[in-house]
Amino acid sequence: MLIFLDTANLEEIRHAARLGVLRGVTTNPSLAAKEGIGGLGSYRVAVQEIARVVDGPISAEVLSTHVQGMVEEGREIATWAPNVVVKIPSTLQGLEAMSTLAREGIRINQTLCFSLNQALLGALAGASFVSPFVGRLDDEGHDGMQLVADMVQVFQKYRITTKVVAASIRHPLHCVAAAKAGADIVTVPYKVLLQMMHHPLTDVGVARFLQDWEKTVKA
Ligand code: E4P
Repeated sequence: MLIFLDTANLEEIRHAARLGVLRGVTTNPSLAAKEGIGGLGSYRVAVQEIARVVDGPISAEVLSTHVQGMVEEGREIATWAPNVVVKIPSTLQGLEAMSTLAREGIRINQTLCFSLNQALLGALAGASFVSPFVGRLDDEGHDGMQLVADMVQVFQKYRITTKVVAASIRHPLHCVAAAKAGADIVTVPYKVLLQMMHHPLTDVGVARFLQDWEKTVKA
């Protein structure tokens, strides 16, 4: 399972890249707004900078809600960098835009996916990635990770090559469950990436090794 970072914060991305585990980045309008990025121009600059730092798929989302607008924005976003992927929502209009853009060879990340039917249609329309939103489903009392597992199973059964990106990740256990469910990718907030590596027994162990070593050296 590959790890993407779900952020538009360059410092977080640079740090994750230094850790050697980062294979891609997902952004969305909310994440961009959080970083004070406003307008398509500054979104483009930010995405291009991210695309220089990370040698993997960088998802940038369209803002239009109608087919022609999504297609035009998608074509524009696809020119920002060779590794940019266009994020399109799981709507009927999005599906039509996805199929047009995919036929032009533009890679799509189908976002805001909440059902297996949406995922299947997106994959059939040519999406390279489909992102089931696990945390938001959990928030509504559904089992978000079950959708990931169902997608993995059905895509395997029909030899669909679209990658399953477990998204809307809230905590490290989501990453464990995504790996067990067979997700191709998990896209995690920076905080969750740090939590994945943290274990209190590791901290205690390091401190104890140092204490014991100091005692011997002083003795
Ligand atoms: C995925 O690509 C999305 O950007 C993201 O995972 C949304 O997560 P949220 O539910 O925390 O906003």
